[in-house]
Amino acid sequence: MSRGRFDAAIVGAGAAGMMAAAVAAQRGLRVVLIDHAGRLAEKIRISGGGRCNFTNLGASPAQFLSRNPDFCRSALRAYGPADFLDLLRAHRVSWHEKHRGQLFCDDSSESIIQVLRRECEAGGVQWRMPCAVRAVGREADGFRLDTDAGPIRAARLVLATGGMAVPQLGATDFSLRIARQFGLRIVEPRPALVPLTFDADRWRPYAALAGVSLEVRLSHEAAAAEGGARDAGPAGAAGTAASSGRGKRSRRPARAEFLEDLLFTHRGLSGPGILQISSYWRPGDPIRIDLAPGRDMGAVLVAAKAGGRQTVAAALAQAWPRRLAEAWLGAAGAAGDGAGAGGGAGMDGRSAAGDGAGPGGGTGADDLAGLGGLRLADAPDRRLRVLGERIHGWTLWPTGTAGYKKAEVMSGGVDTDELDQRSLEARRCPGLHVVGEAVDVTGWLGGYNFQWAWSSGVACGRAL
Ligand code: FDA
Repeated sequence: MSRGRFDAAIVGAGAAGMMAAAVAAQRGLRVVLIDHAGRLAEKIRISGGGRCNFTNLGASPAQFLSRNPDFCRSALRAYGPADFLDLLRAHRVSWHEKHRGQLFCDDSSESIIQVLRRECEAGGVQWRMPCAVRAVGREADGFRLDTDAGPIRAARLVLATGGMAVPQLGATDFSLRIARQFGLRIVEPRPALVPLTFDADRWRPYAALAGVSLEVRLSHEAAAAEGGARDAGPAGAAGTAASSGRGKRSRRPARAEFLEDLLFTHRGLSGPGILQISSYWRPGDPIRIDLAPGRDMGAVLVAAKAGGRQTVAAALAQAWPRRLAEAWLGAAGAAGDGAGAGGGAGMDGRSAAGDGAGPGGGTGADDLAGLGGLRLADAPDRRLRVLGERIHGWTLWPTGTAGYKKAEVMSGGVDTDELDQRSLEARRCPGLHVVGEAVDVTGWLGGYNFQWAWSSGVACGRAL
């Protein structure tokens, strides 16, 4: 074989690319791994707060979003969390379970990078890094890549450059561009696992809550159903997603729900619960937040009236962080400025646009004005019940997301219809494979995205 000619060229030495390279090279293939970055696998390095939440014990297709949620099944079955744990054991890397099946390294995420690097070296993978790929072309017997390190020819080409989240770490749309060049359809990419933002003026009353965090139940219902009858959705440990269509061609789930932490920020909402819901959210959709899941706050407040010399805000502060009780009640009451009734709390984007439509719940912000300072004993039961309804059904219309800069992943990507689910090979372009985040398969927060990277990388590496 002449110099510069390989069985497989893999562009992107991240989670999926290194896995595919190691598996293929250990099968005896001549593999070159190309990456434009100066430092290896930066996203693994920074993930999980530096400890890499590298898988989730409960990983199944139920925790993935895709135009075809079943697409990932075969790769996950062929190489699941237990297989990755076997690999870590072989390299003497120890781990612990943190929360709901999420596994993290005991030491640092660097140990995961070193496992993958050593696996690549065991197969004799050749590295071109840092090395940019200028152009890709098709030749009779494969692909030609024009790179900073000269031309590279390979029988097969693997696109493994991930998604566009965190461009400051060198993320690009390379895989999507090359896939398009070869005629593959792309599902519109968008930031996912990302904070949600609101109109600055309307958010101002809540900005004082920045830093407050609490466990909530978040739900999202697609504003416009995307066809098909509703299905009973799969249930996960932390949440559920009910699909809007049936079977293989189901589209965006009509309803998703998570019991997770919420974090107030200066610009809007973040925290694990919001990141989860953000993957389902589209502009124009409301999100609904139960700020006291599992309790009936209206009933609690009415019952507390008997011994009630305290104010409503003080009574709420027994169930919530004090700052939240005072500021949220004040802000929700201030929404009686005509911004919209019933849970809109001034965040009703449609009211802002002037169509006057008030969001769900049917309770007026006027009912909450001045309520926080009232003595519980003086507060009418009706107003306390309205407050309870608002606490359990705070309905908000985000105006946007914090974008790729703050997103953990990109959703969308190369349409799964274009790929064979066992080999990740493009049906209309034999020899071209796409793995990892560049494929329209997006996991929930909690280790699922790395598991997809390992599973799709192995499936591809075995098929090259
Ligand atoms: P990945 O991004 O890993 O690798 C792509 C590689 O391609 C990079 O090395 C990049 O330099 C290279 N590349 C890009 N463009 C190129 C170009 N034009 N030319 C050449 N090379 C190019 N997931 C999870 O399961 N658990 C977690 O704890 C976290 N935590 C987390 C934190 C943060 C801050 C982020 C941003 C993301 C996470 N994730 C996560 C998501 C996870 O990092 C992500 O889904 C996987 O790394 C995707 O693996 P890939 O191999 O597809 O891309």
